Amino acid sequence: MSKVAVVTGSNKGIGFAIVKGLAKQYPGIVYLTARNEQLGKKAVKDLETQGLKVAFHQLDIDNQESIDRFSNFIKERHQGLDLLVNNAAIAYKVADSTSFMEQAKNTMRINFTGTLNLCSALFPLLRPHARVVNVSSRAGMLNIVKDAEFRNKLVSDNLSVDELVGLMAHFVELARLGKNESISRSAYGMSKVGLTALTKIQQRQFDKDSRTDLVINAVCPGYVATDMSSHKGYLTPEQGAETPIYLSLLAENWTGPKGLLWAEKKVVDWADLNWSWK
Ligand SMILES: NC(=O)c1ccc[n+]([C@@H]2O[C@H](COP(=O)([O-])OP(=O)(O)OC[C@H]3O[C@@H](n4cnc5c(N)ncnc54)[C@H](OP(=O)(O)O)[C@@H]3O)[C@@H](O)[C@H]2O)c1
Repeated sequence: MSKVAVVTGSNKGIGFAIVKGLAKQYPGIVYLTARNEQLGKKAVKDLETQGLKVAFHQLDIDNQESIDRFSNFIKERHQGLDLLVNNAAIAYKVADSTSFMEQAKNTMRINFTGTLNLCSALFPLLRPHARVVNVSSRAGMLNIVKDAEFRNKLVSDNLSVDELVGLMAHFVELARLGKNESISRSAYGMSKVGLTALTKIQQRQFDKDSRTDLVINAVCPGYVATDMSSHKGYLTPEQGAETPIYLSLLAENWTGPKGLLWAEKKVVDWADLNWSWK
């Protein structure tokens, strides 16, 4: 049985570079997915011209019908999944005139809730030894959260997915009321705080799962020159893809760190309140 890998939001940027890297070394079928079918198919053709063969399927993580169609397709065609890279995300530009309330709602809905919804649909299909990589960011280190009580809830080893969903919804509600500064000023950062906290919970769930050796990690790719960073990042997309690919290919029966945030192939202490970009 051939292994199956899926990368979300991979028509461009870091996701595209992850697919390109996996196409060279993943021992199975790699799915490039995109919300826009035309852009996705064009990306597949780009890889073909480089001698790399990948499969394509439409997938919009902000659309439950698209998620259901995709998970049904994977179930029927492959009966299982071995690698999921949750890469798709949005970030508003600083100069964007959209109200903060809207930005917070949309960013949280796509980056956090959309990713969670996709996981809910695809996790039942994961086969033993599957790997999941959540592309998060050090823009979402815990210390961007000002409120100590909110932080304590986020780091609790008993935090459930429902409670985390409630915390993220609370932030969006505060944004609606114009009171979010008591928690954080960054909608994008909070969506990634949520994703990194989710990763810890998801690994705890995997640890109790009857399927052996399910491993999930979160990763910050670094500051990468893509459309998201207005091409200001100092890493190429290929360099940004290195740690996500490393985590995608962790050895079977992995006993190393899991459920954690990584960058540059090392674990980052997400909860370090003194952390800063050096
Ligand atoms: N670039 C950086 O410096 C940096 C730093 C830290 C973390 N990250 C993270 O790295 C990941 C990739 O970012 P990037 O820099 O490569 O950004 P990018 O160039 O803007 O690419 C984002 C990708 O996500 C897709 N996407 C957005 N919403 C989607 C949805 N609802 N469903 C499916 N796909 C969707 C986009 O599709 P469209 O083409 O249709 O818009 C695009 O393919 C993100 O999770 C980002 O937060 C980036």
